[in-house]
Amino acid sequence: MNTIPKHIAIIMDGNRRWAKEQGKPTMFGHSAGAKNLKRIIQKAIDLGITHATFWALSTENLKRDKKEVAHIFSLFEKITDYLGDFITHNAKFTIVGDMSNKIPENVQKKLYDMVEKTKNADKIVITFAVNYGGRDEIVRATKKILNAGIDPETLSEETFATYLDTKELPNPDMIIRTGGNKRLSGYLPWQSTYAELYFTDIKWPAYSPEDLQDAVDWYTNQQRNFGK
Ligand code: FPP
Repeated sequence: MNTIPKHIAIIMDGNRRWAKEQGKPTMFGHSAGAKNLKRIIQKAIDLGITHATFWALSTENLKRDKKEVAHIFSLFEKITDYLGDFITHNAKFTIVGDMSNKIPENVQKKLYDMVEKTKNADKIVITFAVNYGGRDEIVRATKKILNAGIDPETLSEETFATYLDTKELPNPDMIIRTGGNKRLSGYLPWQSTYAELYFTDIKWPAYSPEDLQDAVDWYTNQQRNFGK
């Protein structure tokens, strides 16, 4: 038996298909997905999970229809409406991903305001992966290492990890992907090496606290030996 996972990382997939099933536009799916975060974070806190990392926007998602991307940005801008006081009291909010020029300034400001406002909260660390791609993260880390003039002979896995966006986070113990696809699509490739992988057909807006409980129950029944 395992203890409960300390760090879960979630791929919130299926928003558009969920909306389609309801006969609603794509945007409705993303809004419902954003709304779903609060109850899942609350459940994670109740379970004693200390870190939860959500893939809120991938580097690939940015290539979608302009209107859809703008809608997702508008949800980020309203982060205080979705998570405001709740997160301020309970959760430290952090961001991984490439927050450079592709993210509009006003969106960056809203997200970084949330980082600043929540820096002393300690029940859980909530991380949004924004404009995140695992290969992109590794290339950016490598550039930083080269720019720092690190001697190749001294470069270790531990040093490398300190150049990743996730340097402040423990590795995820479990990755959950909703929406039915069984792939990681470049989510935390370095960090997920020993993570348990959990796939469910439930689409993100419908993913409930009970579903998270099921995933954690499954996790506790896995044997983890880290290759030993
Ligand atoms: C994947 O579903 C989900 C996304 C591309 C975006 C996720 C973003 C949110 C839920 C917004 C969070 C924001 C805040 C501020 C709380 P999909 O569109 O790929 O769905 P599909 O697989 O059905 O096409």
